[in-house]
Formats: sequence, C-alpha cells, structure tokens
Amino acid sequence: MYQYTEEQIVSMKKVEATRASRLGAELRRMTAEEKDEVLASFHPDYIASAYEELKAGPNKGGKVLHELAALLQGRSRVLGKKIDLKNPDYDVDVLVIGGGGAGSSAAIEADNCGANVMIVTKLRLGDANTAMAEGGIQAADRENDSPAIHYLDALGGGHFKNKPSLLYKLVTEAPEAIKWLNDLGVMFDKAPDGTMIETHGGGTSVKRMHACRDYSGSEIMRVLRDEVLNRGITVVDFTSAIELIKDKEGKAAGAVLLNMETGEILVARAKTVIIATGGAGRLHYQGFPTSNHYGATADGLVLAYRAGAKLLYPETLQYHPTGAAAPTQIFGALVTEKVRSLGAQLVNKEGVAFVNPLETRDVTASSIIRECKQNGGGVRTADGEGVWLDTPLIDLLNGEGTIEKRIPAMLRMFGKYGIDIRKEPILVYPTLHYQNGGIDISPDGMSGVENLYVAGEAVGGIHGTNRLMGNSLLDVIVFGRNAGKHAGEKSKTVKLGALTLDFVKAFEKELEGAGLRPSMPSPRLLPDYRRKDL
Ligand code: FUM
Repeated sequence: MYQYTEEQIVSMKKVEATRASRLGAELRRMTAEEKDEVLASFHPDYIASAYEELKAGPNKGGKVLHELAALLQGRSRVLGKKIDLKNPDYDVDVLVIGGGGAGSSAAIEADNCGANVMIVTKLRLGDANTAMAEGGIQAADRENDSPAIHYLDALGGGHFKNKPSLLYKLVTEAPEAIKWLNDLGVMFDKAPDGTMIETHGGGTSVKRMHACRDYSGSEIMRVLRDEVLNRGITVVDFTSAIELIKDKEGKAAGAVLLNMETGEILVARAKTVIIATGGAGRLHYQGFPTSNHYGATADGLVLAYRAGAKLLYPETLQYHPTGAAAPTQIFGALVTEKVRSLGAQLVNKEGVAFVNPLETRDVTASSIIRECKQNGGGVRTADGEGVWLDTPLIDLLNGEGTIEKRIPAMLRMFGKYGIDIRKEPILVYPTLHYQNGGIDISPDGMSGVENLYVAGEAVGGIHGTNRLMGNSLLDVIVFGRNAGKHAGEKSKTVKLGALTLDFVKAFEKELEGAGLRPSMPSPRLLPDYRRKDL
C-alpha cells in the first residue's frame, strides 16, 4: 500500500479544496509564442549538453543524444565472429525483424502477396510497445471530420516538420486501417447503435480517437498476433537481428541472428527485409524513466544506420506528460492521455491548475517540468517530484462509473497500491515515451538501402518533431501494412547475389578514420538494470 508523506497529504487537501471551483473550467490555450518559450526553456530536446555530433555514417555531422551516438557508432556484434553466409539457416522471401504491431501487420500483408514470410523477434510475438499503448488510435471517419483536418492537426503538432508524403499516407489511409482492424475482430468501444465512440487527444480539433477502453494496444496486438499465428506465418521467438546482410550489389539480403537463449548465431537470407523494431525508451535518454516495453533499445536504427540508411530527426524524442511519479513500483509507467481527454486536470502543489491538459504533448510535458523546476509547484516524491493529475474530476464531469468503464487499466494500476483514482488525484511527471525520429523512408516504406523497408516507430518523419496521441498505433498499422505489401511484391522480382558483410568492416574503418575505436556492443538488444556498485 502506498504511504503518502505528510507534505503530499497537505497538498492533496489543497487539490480537494479547489476541485469544485475547477469543475468544468476550460483552461486558456497558450499562444504560439508562449509555447515556443516553454519548449526552448524546459523541453529535454533543447538541452544542448545531452547531445553530440556523429562522426561517421550517413548522418555524420548531425546531432543525437549521447546514448544513441554510442550505439550508432558502437562495435558490431559480428566482428571477430565466423559467420557462414554461404549456408543460411533460413531462406525466405520477406524477413520481418520485430514482432509488434508493425511487424505483424507487415507480415500479414506480405503473406497476402503470396510471399514466404518469417518474423524474428527478440522476445515473443506481441511483446512490444504496441501492446502497451493505452489511449487509442486516430482516424478521421466521421462526417464532421476529414483526413485534411487530421493532416493539419498532426502537422501543427509536429511543428510543420512532418514529411508531407508520409503524413498524407497516414491520414488518408487511417479510416481503412480502422475498418481492417474492426473486420479482423478488434473490439473497439462502441455506442449501443454500433457507432464508434471517439474522443479528443491533445492537439486534435475533432474527436477522432478510437479506443478499446484503455487497453487499445493490447486489444489490437491480441488480434494481430492471432492473425499471424492462424495464417501459419513462421515466427522465430527470442531471436535478435544483430546485423543486416547485403548482397554484392549493396541491396539488403537478410540478417545475422542471435538466439537469445543459446547464444547461437544464425543466418537468414531474404529477398527483402522489413525493420519493425520499435522505439528506444529503454535507453533511458537523459536519465528519464520510460513507459516503453523492455525490448525498446533502438536496434533497428543501429542496424539500418550501419548498412547506410539515413535517419530523419533522430534528435527528437517524446516525453509523455503523464508518467506515474509515484509509487516507485510504477515509476515512469504510462498514465494515458485519455485520462485528460475525459477531463482530469493538471494541478500544482497549491491546488492550482496550471496548463490546459490537452495542449500538445511536448508543450504539456515542458509546462510540468517548468512548474516543478522553476515555479516551485512540484510535490516531492521518493523518486523526484511530480504534479497532481486530478482524476476524481472525471466521474464528476461525466457521471459515476466513467472511470471504471473507460479507463479500467488506470483504476487497476493504481488500485494495486491502494490508490483509488475515483477518489484521489495521482502524482505524475514526464516519462520517455516515443522516438519521433527514425529511419528515413519513401512512401513505399523503403529506406535509403535498396530492399530494406521500415515500419512503425523505427520510421522517422511521419510525425515531424512531436507526435500526437493515437497517431502511433495508426502508423504502426498503416506503415506496417504498406511495408508488407511493397516488400512482398518486390520480393517476387529480386534475384539475390552472393551475401556479404563487407559493409560492416567498411563502417569500422570509417569509425577508425574518425578516431573512434568503440568497445560497446551494438545493437544493445536489452537494457542492463544490474547494479553497477556491486
Ligand atoms: O497516452 C496514451 O494513451 C498514449 C498514446 C500514444 O502515445 O499514442
């Protein structure tokens, strides 16, 4: 059971005391200038000392966070190993690296093309960020909405940096993505007449967030996983890709695999390869906790980079405004934005609501950091500080039972520690949630390396430098399916030449030339939580 400190109890009483006066009050939206100011002063992406210049590779001269630089310029795990490229252990048309929502969607569509598909995943099929997504998935499928409005919302949220061709694809194919999921059996929240229940997210001008309670990702992953298994698509669990393989013409032609249980090295030859390895939260950039899955260590970015694929906006990360700040056991876990969509306000230690809860994520997160670091409005916790998310407002605004019905996962997550979010506010602070940047692709999903496709969070540019809620589950489906279709079709025309890893040695030479002799094994594969002081 969570034990509140004296200071927290005093502060919580102030939140209770101001609740009635805040009920139904709409907080002012910030001006563009105010947003720019809070971002520049408090968003972690603006901390120059957290970044360094890359000395080698396609993004040479560009800046990335130290933790990512160490991996992009790290030591390949295949160096010094004997790898028999002439006798592959697997020989397939399409190799999908990653078993989350994007990888599964890609595999299903490649299978539809008649391709022989194999998924390799370093944990188990479905163990991925997709399954951890809570709040929902956007799609403009109502009369008062349109893909054009969806486009403008995402473009504004992304600071006008979104790659237009990718954003166009995202929003125009969104309604069909929802239909596809619904037809496959995803149990979306629906009204008694069968229409979808749709809500707002931060930065949306129309209600277009489709959800499955606050288990949206888990429900979507359940259905995709079943579909992959029912089709008999080959899935190799607990197996990481540790390097891509090319053919003599420099085209992607497979991957070197590592069995995570036995340490055995395996070779997969493939006519086309799809990277769907997800995000990077488990690199804990700048010391942040994360809402991400255990396997989110940027592996795909590292593999693609070493093979010559350019990254787009790798320097921009998303810190979700509301990670759990207490209790310690769930420090950094996601408190879905849906909590704020349903009316919960962000309140400081004096009981004052200090920001409109549905500003875009980067602005809201920066405002919370400012409230704590500059304004003295934070509440101390065992792991740092936080502000209140006043959850009891939800039932007061929408009727008793709303929390239980619409956000049961949140009720359960805090309930385990004796915190009843229907009666008590909760403490939150930004948590590392998403990599806005990733591998640069063209609209057919192909990276700068021929026959190397990318889907899901490993892609950069769809969301500009700040993604809106619900556009990630959407891109996982739209770009997963897209990569699967294109890679599947392309595989029919590919004639593979001899396999090679020469590019790995060439990259090592480039690093040497830049004065780097890295020892850190790259990719990371799993986070390391062993205590360093023992
Ligand atoms: O807050 C959330 O439920 C997160 C959703 C997202 O990142 O899209």
